[in-house]
Amino acid sequence: MEELKRAVAKEALKFIEDDMIVGLGTGSTTAYFIEYLGKLIMEGELEDVYGVPTSYQARLLAIENGVPVVGLDEVDAIDIAVDGADEVDPNLNLIKGRGAALTMEKIIEYRAGTFLVLVDESKLVERLGQRVPVPIEVIPAAWRAIAEEIEVFNATAELRMASKKDGPVVTDNGNFILDAKFHRIEDPLDLEIELNNIPGVVENGIFADIADIVLVGTREGVKRLE
Ligand code: 5RP
Repeated sequence: MEELKRAVAKEALKFIEDDMIVGLGTGSTTAYFIEYLGKLIMEGELEDVYGVPTSYQARLLAIENGVPVVGLDEVDAIDIAVDGADEVDPNLNLIKGRGAALTMEKIIEYRAGTFLVLVDESKLVERLGQRVPVPIEVIPAAWRAIAEEIEVFNATAELRMASKKDGPVVTDNGNFILDAKFHRIEDPLDLEIELNNIPGVVENGIFADIADIVLVGTREGVKRLE
């Protein structure tokens, strides 16, 4: 699996050119991309490339690997964003957020000229919600009320815990994450909008209709979906 992640991360480098502002995703696949991108920058193969990190994790990795970072509020536009995903359906709708960075990821990826997604073949599903629950970032005080409200959607939601001892996972924005299992997700875009209408929901991990290209690492090589 690590080999497949490395292969898609290498392939993603072909999309990066001099003078680009690059959204840097979060997670183990994007970590390889950040490492390889840093190498090209340090070797002088790429010039004037800046990264806009989607999390503290991505920011630290970028700094460690020699990718200069800038904030979203310092750039006029993002040329390309590169990130992983937890599920990809045949219409390239995604579930993201196992790394709890979904809000900043969506803010940056929505604004990117191209949103490039990197996955291995295990992430491809016929219907969203088959493998993983939908992460929902919520204002901490509202977590229980929202978890109950989500039952209206024929779903159950659990508060994501770091561990029993350490308590709930806290996002970079100081919020909690609910993981919601839906009986069946018929219309990802509709559910994405509906969930964000609940007061106290900051953002949810359905990324409907925003991926431009998906690179899939398979045993037979990297495949491109668009
Ligand atoms: C983090 C994410 C990640 O991109 C997603 O969880 C995939 O991660 P990995 O590449 O480690 O499988 O959405 O919030």
